[in-house]
Amino acid sequence: MESPRSSEDVLALLAWQVELGADEAICDAPIDRYTLPAEAPKRTPRAAALPSAPAAPEPEVDPVAAARMAASAAKDLAGLAAAMEAFDLCPLKRGARSFVFSDGNPVARVMIIGEAPGRDEDRIGRPFVGRAGQLLDRMLAPIQLDRTATDPAHAVYITNVLPWRPPQNRTPEPAEIAMMLPFLEAHIALADPEVLVLMGNTPCQTLLGRSGITRMRGTWTEALGRPVLPMFHPAYLLRNPAAKREAWADLLDLQARLRA
Ligand code: URA
Repeated sequence: MESPRSSEDVLALLAWQVELGADEAICDAPIDRYTLPAEAPKRTPRAAALPSAPAAPEPEVDPVAAARMAASAAKDLAGLAAAMEAFDLCPLKRGARSFVFSDGNPVARVMIIGEAPGRDEDRIGRPFVGRAGQLLDRMLAPIQLDRTATDPAHAVYITNVLPWRPPQNRTPEPAEIAMMLPFLEAHIALADPEVLVLMGNTPCQTLLGRSGITRMRGTWTEALGRPVLPMFHPAYLLRNPAAKREAWADLLDLQARLRA
């Protein structure tokens, strides 16, 4: 006959089982799992174990629809900048240091659209301020365009497809572009420029639905009811100085258009 155990014995036995790796008390009697049905019976939770109210499912948010609504409510550029900066559904916002809206003069006849802020733009909070931006300024000067000009005839207004820097300057994802497009469209409508200059493939893909800047550059087309000139991006010109020749031809074409 088994002798009754003292509480010390029981605790010692428990410690021994824990040492062996037992970490859960299951039940008093052993279960022959070979005789159990293949599928475990569904457990019906006891009423007491049920949560008091079922959790409401998270509402699905369509970022493009949300952006459209936020952008359409903006009555002026300041309102648009505020709505865009408050927009939380673009994942790029979390990784960026600055919100980069625009530079130059919004009364300008020419609006230049780039891709997205790079490292310098993210640090400073203004578009095209790094090496590519400095080249852009040097390209515009000979045709008497200047982002600091107050006179609309000589001013330019500058923005990007995206206001937040993509990590490591990677190419923006189509979903990121799609959700920021309503803001860009509103930006163009509110600034109301006479012509748009698209720098490189990303703004061409965004506003014209096609890319291939080597073929497209220098040929006037139309977007949102406005004349559009696709051009090589200044960052491309820094890497391929031989292409500056074509860029110069495009700048002269832009100047002729503005004089016409
Ligand atoms: N490249 C862009 O497209 N935009 C900037 O603002 C800077 C570099």
